[in-house]
Amino acid sequence: MSFHYKDIVPWGRSFDEYLDMFNLSEDDLARDIVGVGDGPASFNAQMHQRDTPIISVDPIYRYSEAELRQRIQETYKDIITQAFRNRDKFVWTRFSSVGELVAFRRQTMETFCQDFETGRQQGRYVVAALPNLPFPDRHFDLVLSAHLLFFYSANLDLAFHLDAIRELLRIGNEVRIFPIVDVNSSFSPLVLPVIRALEKDGITCSLESVPYHLQKTGNQMLRLRRSALTPLRLLGRFETSPAACISSDG
Ligand SMILES: C[S@@+](CC[C@H](N)C(=O)[O-])C[C@H]1O[C@@H](n2cnc3c(N)ncnc32)[C@H](O)[C@@H]1O
Repeated sequence: MSFHYKDIVPWGRSFDEYLDMFNLSEDDLARDIVGVGDGPASFNAQMHQRDTPIISVDPIYRYSEAELRQRIQETYKDIITQAFRNRDKFVWTRFSSVGELVAFRRQTMETFCQDFETGRQQGRYVVAALPNLPFPDRHFDLVLSAHLLFFYSANLDLAFHLDAIRELLRIGNEVRIFPIVDVNSSFSPLVLPVIRALEKDGITCSLESVPYHLQKTGNQMLRLRRSALTPLRLLGRFETSPAACISSDG
């Protein structure tokens, strides 16, 4: 039995989970951050509560709070059923059972829902979709994206991943993507082709272990850094491969 999603589902993680998924330090939290594909995660709401507001981007932010609540509710049953059938694919240390995981998700997404309308008015929730984001070049210092790229490798192809990640690199100095496995905890077949292509753009790529470990093989993120010398207009058009490295746990 494996996970199968016809569409990309709205499902959200918490502030503490974001800290661990992206190995975020206190210094990182003080940077200009955007989360792309943040959906109903509570990271934005909880960063706002800390007085360190960030921007979140997702196409679902075009809906009202009531519509989002309904969409989350509709998705619930299918996710719970699939999570229960696939419980052997998870490490049950952070959460002790599917029931505890689901109760925590409910609470997390409730925090998002309660913050959403105010946050949207304040410009913290922006309606947009990869691969085209409405921000100027290098507008952010740190770009985070979780459970979208690589995770939905069965739904989004290599061309989409390359366009999307180049867009993330256009708007920020550093990009972190978590996880690098798909919904079934298999190493995404797109990771290495993406890294090879980005190295040709002059991007430094590293696969790093992180403290977050829920999917059995899912405790690594991809960190991407554009050197100050990488001209934006060359992103994706480099003919020769500049020195860049892939390090494990680097
Ligand atoms: C599984 S949720 C992950 C939410 C959050 N990042 C987390 O880890 O808890 C995936 C999100 O990606 C969003 N999404 C789908 N297509 C997208 C696109 N082209 N650009 C940006 N976000 C997208 C979906 O609307 C959904 O909210």
